Amino acid sequence: MKYKKTGMLIDSGHSRRQFLKLAGYGTLGLISGGLWPKLDGFAAEQTPDTEFVPDLDIFLSARPDEVSVLPGDPTRVWRYHATVHKGSRARIVEMSRSYLGPVIKVHRGEKIRIRFKNTVPEESIVHWHGLHVPAIMDGHPRDVVPQGQSHLYEFEVKNRAGTYWYHPHPHGRTGPQVYDGLAGLFLVSDQEEQYIGLPDGEYDVPLVIQDRTFDSGNQLVYMSGHRMARMAGFLGSTIMINGLPDFTLPVSTGAYRLRLLNGSNSRIYKLAWEDGRPLTILATDGGLLERPVFRRYAFLSPGERLEIWADFSDHPVGYETSLLSLPFDAGGMGGGMMMGGMMGQNQYPTNGAIFSVFKMKVTQTVKTNYRLPEMLSDIESARPEDAVNYFRPRQFHLTMQHMQWTINGRTFQMEEVADDEIVQLGSTEIWEFDNSGGGMMNMMNIPHPIHLHGKQFRVLERSGVAHEGYVDEGWKDTVLLMPGERIKILVDFDDYPGMFLYHCHNLEHEDMGMMRNYYVKG
Ligand code: C2O
Ligand code: CU
Ligand code: CU
Repeated sequence: MKYKKTGMLIDSGHSRRQFLKLAGYGTLGLISGGLWPKLDGFAAEQTPDTEFVPDLDIFLSARPDEVSVLPGDPTRVWRYHATVHKGSRARIVEMSRSYLGPVIKVHRGEKIRIRFKNTVPEESIVHWHGLHVPAIMDGHPRDVVPQGQSHLYEFEVKNRAGTYWYHPHPHGRTGPQVYDGLAGLFLVSDQEEQYIGLPDGEYDVPLVIQDRTFDSGNQLVYMSGHRMARMAGFLGSTIMINGLPDFTLPVSTGAYRLRLLNGSNSRIYKLAWEDGRPLTILATDGGLLERPVFRRYAFLSPGERLEIWADFSDHPVGYETSLLSLPFDAGGMGGGMMMGGMMGQNQYPTNGAIFSVFKMKVTQTVKTNYRLPEMLSDIESARPEDAVNYFRPRQFHLTMQHMQWTINGRTFQMEEVADDEIVQLGSTEIWEFDNSGGGMMNMMNIPHPIHLHGKQFRVLERSGVAHEGYVDEGWKDTVLLMPGERIKILVDFDDYPGMFLYHCHNLEHEDMGMMRNYYVKG
């Protein structure tokens, strides 16, 4: 509790009403303050805002389910399930045979209503990772609902076209709930994207990368509660693509847009093609880059997305190649020694081991007309000189204290915001994250993927250890810091006041409190 002194407690009821008014949610304000999310069911008493006319209105539930993932017994999972109440049914695309939730497809500018019902036997709440939505629509852990109860989301899609996703965010339980299957993609399209004519339909392929460990009865095994294991994070023994093991994507002799999401709890992938061609990268977290960039390899840490262009038009039927994860040094605790010992039975024991993530196999000849565009999108150049703290960026040190990962020595407290976590609505700031362990490289330095809620940001600078596998171009919401690295990002807190999270997206780190609130003061 030593931070309570400098910390500022924010009354949730009061501040929510404030958010609602400021965010222009008019009549909703009257029934806010934590009252309406606690109501049961989707009945009329839940009172969706009558002034809010959704283009898409869906029911989304989290429920216990069973899927046949492996030969033999089905696997018990938790799974999102959705139905369309208003709007086109095509907006909800099931992932077949998967524990993953459906892909939700929206267009920029649309108004979305999502009536979430929690039917898993513990508290949960849905967060829209990467979406720019008002604080009360963001799925903060303070908004959790118990089993049987609901939460109403209403927001306008303001994001650029891109690959976003949704997952639970109850404090201390995000890791196990995502692990049990609760996650899904949220794809945004817009006019700019449609204009350039990227591969679509069956040539636009989402690939969610995760790792899971199964017991001999085909049931999921999460990590032991052992502190040391949680310090590193959970690593599963089987790589899953869209919820399936041993994944091979059959392709034709054409060009593909592959949308990769790292939905793993803590595993980092260093992606590269087995056949040695470079990765052609189209997009990152916040949508298309200005132009395609080429990398020999690219890191993809938990929470991050990369869209890549894969063209098989020069390859014969029967051609096969893998997307690999190459070896890398993940630092002291993430490295081999400890996890190898802890989880000795694992097929892919460590962060940084080499393995095939999935295969692509050419199975038919089809002529397509997709060509890699030279230009993808208009992206204004970042203007660090606009930052109010240009000469003194806000500092965030990622350190371990008393066997606990912290940000500036602090851990998550539900309603707490420290003085140095308050920003002014309408301002642009530079935030600097430091994973150098105070300058000393030591055994304890491990990678941390840092994620901000509320806003996409720009990466201005990365210093420390030089890796070439970062795609820091474009808009980001999650950024990997390897041991020894520091990065500066530029964030513009333009239009939504209120309390948002920032945290490490290693879900075991997040659950143990490597997460904090920041407060945008209106
Ligand atoms: Cu992907 Cu706070 O989350
Ligand atoms: Cu998020
Ligand atoms: Cu971390």
